[in-house]
Amino acid sequence: MAMLGVSGLTKRFGGFTAVKEVSFAVEEGEILGLIGPNGSGKSTIFNCIAGLYPPTAGSIVFEGEEIASLSPNRICHKGIGRTFQIPRPFRNLSLLENVALSAFFGQAGNVSRSDCWRLAEEALGMVGLPTDALGGTDGLGAAALKKLELARALATQPRLLLADESLNGLDHAEMEQAAEMLRRIRQEKGITIVWVEHIMGVLMRVVDRVVVLDHGEVILQGKPRDAQADRQVIEVYLGPEAVA
Ligand SMILES: Nc1ncnc2c1ncn2[C@@H]1O[C@H](COP(=O)(O)OP(=O)(O)OP(=O)(O)O)[C@@H](O)[C@H]1O
Ligand SMILES: [Mg+2]
Repeated sequence: MAMLGVSGLTKRFGGFTAVKEVSFAVEEGEILGLIGPNGSGKSTIFNCIAGLYPPTAGSIVFEGEEIASLSPNRICHKGIGRTFQIPRPFRNLSLLENVALSAFFGQAGNVSRSDCWRLAEEALGMVGLPTDALGGTDGLGAAALKKLELARALATQPRLLLADESLNGLDHAEMEQAAEMLRRIRQEKGITIVWVEHIMGVLMRVVDRVVVLDHGEVILQGKPRDAQADRQVIEVYLGPEAVA
């Protein structure tokens, strides 16, 4: 059985259907890329899986259990961590405190203070931020804020990580570094990853499989090379003239 099974997932906002009958599975241990152009429904799918939005229809099964419409905290406690596309750290707390808070609430408070600090230091180390990070979040650039976001998700000790990375705004070296980090998180921590991204290049070298979305619908599932060779995928990314 797959670790996560999404079937017939639909999310409507009023009369607008952002996600339409989306089905895919995530196998334990893989890195799955969930890609598609801006507005194709990637973050909305994450928000449904993570409990921020109740799905309009469909089922989401994690490790054999239906989790659709559970609250975000319960889903986190079941072992699904997520990052947000737009990082919103607690600006009046230090980096270390931000991550320690995630460690505390990610374990539903069933963890000692000293373990929270240890988990926070470990998560900051994993993403390459200073582990004695007592400074605040002011002045952090886009790349560092994304690392902090990842550290906060890791501190909840997920078995499945939903990474809404959006590498937009990072330079090439920073993108490569972010990809390498996800690869290392899978390798060293054994965490299964779904990586949402609309920039294809760097993602394609890291993921095992991709699910491609367009206007809220799945248009392809397969190996990265299948997506790179697919006319419809090329068309939605580059426009119809690219395949003419
Ligand atoms: N809370 C909401 N209310 C109304 N419409 C929404 C809401 N959230 C998302 N949408 C709409 O749903 C569609 C899908 O948005 P979503 O954020 O999932 O796209 P995305 O694939 O993550 O895009 P991007 O690559 O820009 O992050 C968009 O048209 C968006 O405007
Ligand atoms: Mg998004």
